[in-house]
Amino acid sequence: MKRPTNNLLPGLAALAAGWAVALFSASGQLLPAASLGIAPGSFAPGGGMVTASVKVTDAGNHVWLLQSSTNLTTWSEVAALKLHNGSFARGIAPVAAPGLLFRAVYDATRQTIRSDVTNALLLPASPFNYAAPVLPAKFLQPPILGQDNLPATNLTTDIGATLGRVLFYDKRLSTNQTVACASCHQREHGFSDPRPFSVGFNGGLTGRNSMGLSNARWYQRKKFFWDERAATLEDQTLMPIQNSVEMGMTLQALTNRLAAEPFYTNLFTQTFGTPEVTSERISKALAQFVRSIVSTQSKYDMGVTNNFANFTTEENLGRQIFFGQVGSATCSTCHGSDNFVPGANINNNGLENPYVDKGVGALTGLASDEGLFKVPSLRNIELTAPYMHDGRFATLEEVVEFYDSGVVAHPNLSPPLRVPPGNGAASGTPLRLNLTPTQKAALVAFMKTLTDTSVTTDEKFSDPFNYGGDGAGGAGSSGFGGSR
Ligand code: HEC
Ligand code: HEC
Repeated sequence: MKRPTNNLLPGLAALAAGWAVALFSASGQLLPAASLGIAPGSFAPGGGMVTASVKVTDAGNHVWLLQSSTNLTTWSEVAALKLHNGSFARGIAPVAAPGLLFRAVYDATRQTIRSDVTNALLLPASPFNYAAPVLPAKFLQPPILGQDNLPATNLTTDIGATLGRVLFYDKRLSTNQTVACASCHQREHGFSDPRPFSVGFNGGLTGRNSMGLSNARWYQRKKFFWDERAATLEDQTLMPIQNSVEMGMTLQALTNRLAAEPFYTNLFTQTFGTPEVTSERISKALAQFVRSIVSTQSKYDMGVTNNFANFTTEENLGRQIFFGQVGSATCSTCHGSDNFVPGANINNNGLENPYVDKGVGALTGLASDEGLFKVPSLRNIELTAPYMHDGRFATLEEVVEFYDSGVVAHPNLSPPLRVPPGNGAASGTPLRLNLTPTQKAALVAFMKTLTDTSVTTDEKFSDPFNYGGDGAGGAGSSGFGGSR
């Protein structure tokens, strides 16, 4: 690795030192919510400088004027940067940069660049296919047919789900424009959150663990949230927006804010025929996108087609334990079908007694509902740690240990987790599985066959906003501008 002889690096380092005064308005007033960061670039193997970059962060999505100077007295404009979703990065060719200092300036008279479909979003020329995912044969038959919550009043269209995708990643949905749906439903984590409780727009914590969204379209009871308080997905999608911890927004303020953005009036027109931004349309588009997050390409799905010849011996043992063919585990009773969701019942799986969070019981006030919780599909469960409504288990090993020996007696404990009748005094007490270490590991290995990286890597589920960066790298890159 060779260092260049010019003073490029010291020059850029000085920029970094200048961060604190780097962003100010034309009137000299510092804008506290914004920041300028300089990445000094790095040395490519074999010598040569990789392009340095500046990143402007501003939840207000203003236009910032990037200026350069050699003497801190005379400044000349390099570019006008329009932020589209909280931050924007721009590369600076190293040859042009030696000794240069940069700053970003806010000028109220220059706020004329608008976010439109072409500059704000990195969308394909024709929309991705969301409306007609290729589904395995079993998805078109009972019981999965009966799990489908797609309503006739909101059929998914490619452009509608595209609008939903944009909304899902847009921080404008929170009152101070710092949190998007994707902040708590991160796709690399199976659209869940690696934190036990998610952080809302104002730093507050959610009361429960975020739920993974893979195959949320299929659930026999068709309701949403751990306590099923949302009757439909269309109802659900407006709730986080108005939640005082999560996004803190009113629907009126949201529709006004979105209606002011040309890219939204364009997408609403394409989807619904007219540019009106209404909360009903927002809820429908978001629901279309969430419903389109379909996982059917896991190792398990492949196994279904070849009698699990693609499974290792360990994975096949785990599968037999999960489906009750080896040992006494009853997992598939509650995590059933190829969507790994419960049937007609909502369950209490004996996490504790009494329950700190009473689940459905907190809604109804009934003791007989204490500890009843919906469980989302186990698809992509490897990615959605931590586990349970309160994120109490960090790993699948801990989950298996719990089901093996930790289920707690509770009046509402669901029957599949109790010793069956006819076993004398033991009948009805929490089931103990007595799995061997090998069997426990196999059960974990089986659950990992439900991982489907098409959901976590397919561009159609990624962040569509243009954050600048080095050319094409904006969408979904975890570098600059991600949704967290
Ligand atoms: C601050 C974090 C946060 C934000 C922002 C957020 N969610 Fe959630 N989401 C959660 C948590 C936590 C839960 C579980 C809450 C509960 O059950 O009480 C959840 C549950 C859900 C569910 C239920 C899944 C199921 O299977 O029942 C859906 C769907 C969902 N969120 C979609 C969205 C959408 C769409 C947005 C944006 C409009 C959004 N979320 C914004 C944290 C968040
Ligand atoms: C009686 C029904 C029932 C049985 C049987 C059952 N579960 Fe569960 N499972 C649930 C419920 C309900 C939850 C959610 C509980 C909560 O968070 O309060 C859950 C949660 C989970 C989770 C965490 C899901 C998440 O998104 O955080 C995993 C993993 C899991 N179960 C695996 C298993 C395995 C493996 C077995 C078999 C050893 C099993 N379950 C048996 C009902 C059941």
